[in-house]
Amino acid sequence: MDYAKEIVRLKKEKNAVILAHYYTRGEVQEVADFIGDSLALSEKAAATDASIIVFAGVYFMAETAKILSPDKKVLIPDPEADCSLAASCRAEDFAAFKAKYPGYKVVAYVNTTAEVKALTDICCTSSNALQVVRSIPASEGVIFAPDRNFGRYIQSMTGRENMVLWDGACHVHEEFSLERILDLKKEYPQAKVVAHPECKAPVLAVSDFVGSTAAILDFCGRDESKEYIVVTESGILHQMIKSYPEKQFIPAPPIDSTCGCNDCAYMKLVTLEKIYHCLRDETPVVEISEEIRTKAFGSIRAMLDLSK
Ligand code: 13P
Ligand code: SF4
Repeated sequence: MDYAKEIVRLKKEKNAVILAHYYTRGEVQEVADFIGDSLALSEKAAATDASIIVFAGVYFMAETAKILSPDKKVLIPDPEADCSLAASCRAEDFAAFKAKYPGYKVVAYVNTTAEVKALTDICCTSSNALQVVRSIPASEGVIFAPDRNFGRYIQSMTGRENMVLWDGACHVHEEFSLERILDLKKEYPQAKVVAHPECKAPVLAVSDFVGSTAAILDFCGRDESKEYIVVTESGILHQMIKSYPEKQFIPAPPIDSTCGCNDCAYMKLVTLEKIYHCLRDETPVVEISEEIRTKAFGSIRAMLDLSK
């Protein structure tokens, strides 16, 4: 069966929209109505007038769409598509952690469950975390969760000392090898290193640009270099090559290149076949209790209001 063709037909028939993250497979990005980073996808989910949202991405992203659009049917092609960061931070453990720091403002990366968002004052994504943390008066303590590498990066950029970090990490970004990036820099001396802030500090220290997936793509477009060493998940290469065919993109390998760690195991669960079945049968559906949804909504709304 030509899944791509059938998906296009079903989308029209059902007034559905497909939102895809840059880390999904190339063929999945090709059937999407909108491709973006976490922030842009949240904004799109809040604004769409489609009846059905198919979220080609990981679970927390589809859940965020449901939090923002409770009246819409939100479908997830594979509900097993988790995220190492969201999985590292269970709500009951996080509530106990939060209780140790009374009065601290809770900033949680969007890569969290709805239950953790419900315990959060303001969400952030890799696009706006610096802005979010800077919006909190310096006199107030901040709890940042769940990514310790990103948290340390924000601390280094803001000089903020009264900030405590949840001890989570992403299985993709933690695995990039500094040694192998330095070898690539020798091999491609003209190349610029572009990295996601979930990478470890020594990797970020040798990077020419650090930013969200959308910010990295944007940088590669406006920068004058011709070669880039890409230190983030491999799915982004699809848009890089498509948008800037005259440039060369060299994916950075993980510590053990046989483990294929620069692929997000969860994002790669989303296939055209699963999207087709999910649109045809209108399942699996993302559901959240109204109590959790309303609380979680407050923290996402606070973030979106800040970026207006
Ligand atoms: P972005 O918000 O930069 O798209 O990142 C999402 C993510 O999951 C990074 O690993
Ligand atoms: Fe989560 Fe890492 Fe995959 Fe992003 S790349 S969705 S942070 S596991």
